[in-house]
Amino acid sequence: MRSGLKLILLICCALPLHAETPDSNPAASGRIQVATLSKPLGSSAAGTNLNTQPNTSLANGEQLFAENCASCHGSGMKGVPDLASGVSQYGNSDELLRASIANGRSGLMPSFGVPLGDNGLEQVLNYVLSFSGRSPADELNLQAGAQQFDMFCASCHGDNGTGTSTIGAPDLTDSYWVHGGNIDEIRSVIRDGRAANMPAHGERLSAENIDTLVEYTKSLSRNITLAEAPQ
Ligand code: HEC
Ligand code: HEC
Repeated sequence: MRSGLKLILLICCALPLHAETPDSNPAASGRIQVATLSKPLGSSAAGTNLNTQPNTSLANGEQLFAENCASCHGSGMKGVPDLASGVSQYGNSDELLRASIANGRSGLMPSFGVPLGDNGLEQVLNYVLSFSGRSPADELNLQAGAQQFDMFCASCHGDNGTGTSTIGAPDLTDSYWVHGGNIDEIRSVIRDGRAANMPAHGERLSAENIDTLVEYTKSLSRNITLAEAPQ
């Protein structure tokens, strides 16, 4: 959490400070810490004359995001998607982003340690790693892993491992890893499973605020993908 707050501070410093802080109501925020930390930075910019006034709706989005979302999405926690990665589990269209925010999401990756056994786990792990060109060149193991994958994984992650966005099963062939991309992290997800939960915000936020957050989320992802490809 502490590194999350540092990150938020960094983001606040890095972003062009808005001269006018929208009339935020800290009492309405359940996340006082984040709200109070981000507010003085915003208001200290009052008086600074900025030529490039940020788009009001994006400035509102930034504020809403700091108050409602950054405690999780700004923290760099494993299992919390990096919304700036340009890669999405559930889809990046306005409609799907709105659904993610309003209704929440819960992704379930079952645990496979028991059905696979130690050998099977290493085999399927090697096969998964081969999607990103990281598998040791052991053909027999790869073939065995491919069979395990067909049997246990393809129904959710797709025959080619490219994922199924309707259930949030990630693409395993790209270089973005929600739960961490080193070999031990990937092995542990397959062995132990993961349950990820994004709380619904439809009751807490107005439809208008959710639309603002949709725009803000899209702006995050555009900025990063233009600047640097996802690692
Ligand atoms: C309590 C932590 C938490 C909060 C607060 C939170 N989220 Fe999430 N969010 C998550 C997690 C965890 C997931 C991944 C859910 C899954 O994998 O099924 C997620 C998923 C998402 C997704 C889908 C990402 C994708 O790859 O398709 C979007 C969009 C999103 N959140 C936006 C937001 C916005 C905007 C807010 C603020 C209104 C917010 N979240 C608040 C934890 C949180
Ligand atoms: C019932 C559907 C389902 C099945 C079957 C399934 N997965 Fe998953 N898997 C998911 C979901 C959903 C997630 C994302 C969890 C979350 O929301 O964070 C996931 C996440 C993962 C991840 C982490 C990806 C990342 O970006 O960090 C790996 C690796 C993975 N699965 C591999 C496998 C393998 C290998 C198998 C077969 C042994 C398998 N999965 C079977 C649904 C499934």
